[in-house]
Amino acid sequence: MEDLNIQKMNGAQWGNVLDKAAQTPAGKMGGLHVIAINSDKEMQVFTDVAQAKEAGYKTLSLSEICKYTKAKMKDCSDQQTKFKAAMALQKFGSLSGRAKLEKQASALAVKLVPTLRTTTPSQLEGIKENIAYATDITFPAKRSNNVVIFLSSDNPSGVKTTVVKTAKNPRAAVAADRFYERMGFTTPNSFAMDKDDPTSKDLLGKIDSFPEMSGEKKTKLEKEKTERKHILVMDRIKGRPFNELGVDQVLGVCNNPGICRDIGRMMLFDAFIGNWDRVNEGQCNLGNFILLDTRDSTAEVTPEGKSRIALIDHEVEVNKTSLPTLHSRIETLLDDTKCETTIDQLFAKFMTQILNQGGDVNLLTEDLASRAKEQIKEGIREASKEILESFDKKSAAGIIDDVNLPKSKQNDPKLLFKMYTTLEKSVKY
Ligand SMILES: Nc1ncnc2c1ncn2[C@@H]1O[C@H](COP(=O)(O)OP(=O)(O)O)[C@@H](O)[C@H]1O
Ligand SMILES: [Mg+2]
Repeated sequence: MEDLNIQKMNGAQWGNVLDKAAQTPAGKMGGLHVIAINSDKEMQVFTDVAQAKEAGYKTLSLSEICKYTKAKMKDCSDQQTKFKAAMALQKFGSLSGRAKLEKQASALAVKLVPTLRTTTPSQLEGIKENIAYATDITFPAKRSNNVVIFLSSDNPSGVKTTVVKTAKNPRAAVAADRFYERMGFTTPNSFAMDKDDPTSKDLLGKIDSFPEMSGEKKTKLEKEKTERKHILVMDRIKGRPFNELGVDQVLGVCNNPGICRDIGRMMLFDAFIGNWDRVNEGQCNLGNFILLDTRDSTAEVTPEGKSRIALIDHEVEVNKTSLPTLHSRIETLLDDTKCETTIDQLFAKFMTQILNQGGDVNLLTEDLASRAKEQIKEGIREASKEILESFDKKSAAGIIDDVNLPKSKQNDPKLLFKMYTTLEKSVKY
């Protein structure tokens, strides 16, 4: 490697080299697995060694790449560089097609950027342990066909509560968890597993063995299981989803500027990745965000340094068809007057919630509502700046693309570049 002078490169240079190689369009990368570098320190992915040689490149094994990355990132304090390097490692790992290498690369990536968790062997062990000790199952207070909550209260390593759900596109859901986490939101530790994975089978078998899993519930879960190929396993968030809040909690939220701003930030981030299922024009689902309650001792996630609201159950839809809508959604949100319609839907739900809980709607005064709405708008503006400041175009795409998303047209990074451009334009308004 002397001739390539890899040793002389600093962390930032190395991070950029990795990033560039990893940004090869996903479609072209499928099935390719030779990574090589040339004397201009350009790294590229090739179909085979011969092709790399012909182009004047020298191949690097993934182990070597890991070794260099580890050394160069040791004293690197730039988060963006670490993030680029970590995402590139994950991508190379999944391209290698070899489980051992993939694990090695992924372990290093997670070490560099802990928010890029994937299902590691130790996490799988943890899940297995929970299953073994599961004494009870329960369900969300509000109906859901496919969510089961596992209680493992006899577990000697502490009470573990695990949420298990079937999922259509779990990788997108996990990637979105990581995205929101990076933007400072509390999200559950989440893993996606193939339904046929032995751990998944154990888990589903165990669920079936509980007497609670009978009748209509059983039929519905069976149906979901046949339609969906994956399961998602997550920590249960300490708190209450907004559709279960009591009167005082709804008023508490409106009185709390920080939480209101986080609601606004959430709305903008949702628009950015095409999540339709929270506070979106024409629709409002309070079940997909949770107000944290640290006094809840049966759940796992503590919110240190993170948002007071936790986000779950995200959709990701960024494609040619959705982009124009996402663009106009962002424009609407950033328009001080136009955004009111969307925000008003949320307050209509808050009113309903207060009524349903036996409260007086007059408790939510016009004055309180308008102060809360101003904070929400402020949050929307903050979030658009945060996206532009936090990511360059490449990493904006990489965030969604790289956390093991299945390679399909829908997740083409180029589409996310467009999304980013959309945001840049919208911010000028
Ligand atoms: N990780 C979690 N922590 C706490 N509660 C959860 C979690 N995941 C799901 N729930 C509960 O289950 C409900 C339904 O889960 P969700 O993932 O939104 O499924 P659905 O696809 O049915 O909407 C949520 O509103 C919440 O009450
Ligand atoms: Mg939901």
